[in-house]
Formats: sequence, C-alpha cells, structure tokens
Amino acid sequence: MKQSNSPSFSTKRLRLRYITEEDAEDIFYYAKNSNVTRYTAFDTHKTLKDALDFVRSSRALNIRDPLNPFGIFIQSEGREKMIGTVGLFKGKLCRENTLELGYALGEDWWGKGYGIEASQVLINHAFKTLNIRRIEALCIKENIGSFRVMEKLGMQREGLLRKHLIKNGYIYDMYIYSLLKEEWEVFK
Ligand SMILES: CC(C)(COP(=O)(O)OP(=O)(O)OC[C@H]1O[C@@H](n2cnc3c(N)ncnc32)[C@H](O)[C@@H]1OP(=O)(O)O)[C@@H](O)C(=O)NCCC(=O)NCCS
Repeated sequence: MKQSNSPSFSTKRLRLRYITEEDAEDIFYYAKNSNVTRYTAFDTHKTLKDALDFVRSSRALNIRDPLNPFGIFIQSEGREKMIGTVGLFKGKLCRENTLELGYALGEDWWGKGYGIEASQVLINHAFKTLNIRRIEALCIKENIGSFRVMEKLGMQREGLLRKHLIKNGYIYDMYIYSLLKEEWEVFK
C-alpha cells in the first residue's frame, strides 16, 4: 500500500484509490445500469447527482472504514478510468478483528477477473498488516457471479441467511462466506 494522506494499492492491471468528484461521470456510466445494481446495496443511479452523492458518502465512509470503499481504476485512452468499487468494512454482522468484503464492477468489465484481483490485494493487506482474523462476505443467493468470486478467493460458504435482505420491496435469502487468516496463508 502506498501510504500518504490517501492510501492506494496497485495490482498488475488495476489501481485502487479513494474516489473523488472527478470520478462521478465514470460512476454514473456503470451505476445507471440496472444489471449492475440488481443485487447491490446501492440503488440504480438516475442522474449524475446520484453519483456525486455516492462520492460524498464514500468519503464519509473512508473516515470510519479506511479500507472502504476504493475506486477500481484501469488505464483507458490515456487516463485512469473508474470501473467499480471494492472495500473491506466493519459490516453489521462483523465481530472483533473481522471485516466484510464488498465489490461491484461496471458490466463492461465483468468476466475479466478484476473482481478477484481487486479483492486479493485488500485481503492481503488486511491479513498481513492489520490484526484481522476473519473476512466475511454476503451476497444474494441468486448472485452467482458474486459467490463465484468469493469461492475463487478461497472463501467457504458458511450458510444461508434466510429472508435476510429487503431490497426494492423484495425479500432475499443471502449466502454468507468467510475466509480465515490461516486459510489465506495456505491458499496463496
Ligand atoms: C460480482 C462481480 C463483481 C463479479 O466480478 P467479475 O470480475 O466479473 O468476476 P470474475 O471475472 O472474476 O469471475 C469470477 C467467476 O465467476 C463466474 N461468473 C461471473 N459472473 C457469473 C454469472 N453471472 N453466472 C455464472 N458465473 C459467473 C466467472 O465465470 C468466474 O468463474 P470461472 O473463472 O470459473 O469462469 C460482477 O459481476 C459485478 O460487479 N456484479 C454487479 C455488482 C454485484 O452484484 N456486486 C456484488 C454484490 S454482493
């Protein structure tokens, strides 16, 4: 991790950094797509203002949870383009020394392994430099792409949280997955 006022991480193909208002148009581009938001905690963006509000709330979240959220950036047409978010945060079900993983990518960038690549660098940081013993992740049962990412990260499915989430008037079952520090060391 590059440690300055604002942390950032680099992987082979990606850079993770905090989101700024200049990223709002990139966010709006992918977050206005209801395929992306079908199973996410945030709703489909209707106007650019929704993306600007997202940036502002992200900055507030960064203060409470320094690893959440990060924008995921690729190099495209000579500039850094934001294609999604990833983060580790103190989720509602997290006990001590535990963080929850979350991610979302624009549909143009699905199926390229970016979700895994972005998650790996944060997980590595949390287990190696923070006193974290467990990382958990939740997803709506039907979100196959999301739980496949969890499985490819080496996470284990612990169970089904029945009727756990209400989103847009629908009630969803959610899978809960987890990864322990000792498993990550073996897995890598
Ligand atoms: C979930 C998400 C982050 C997956 O990221 P991704 O970078 O596209 O995933 P990857 O390319 O690393 O694929 C991971 C695995 O899942 C599989 N997969 C991805 N989407 C799938 C789908 N819809 N159905 C079945 N398998 C799927 C891939 O084939 C791959 O497995 P493989 O390597 O064995 O073929 C991405 O689809 C997304 O952002 N979705 C919208 C937002 C969202 O739902 N976020 C999660 C909320 S819990």
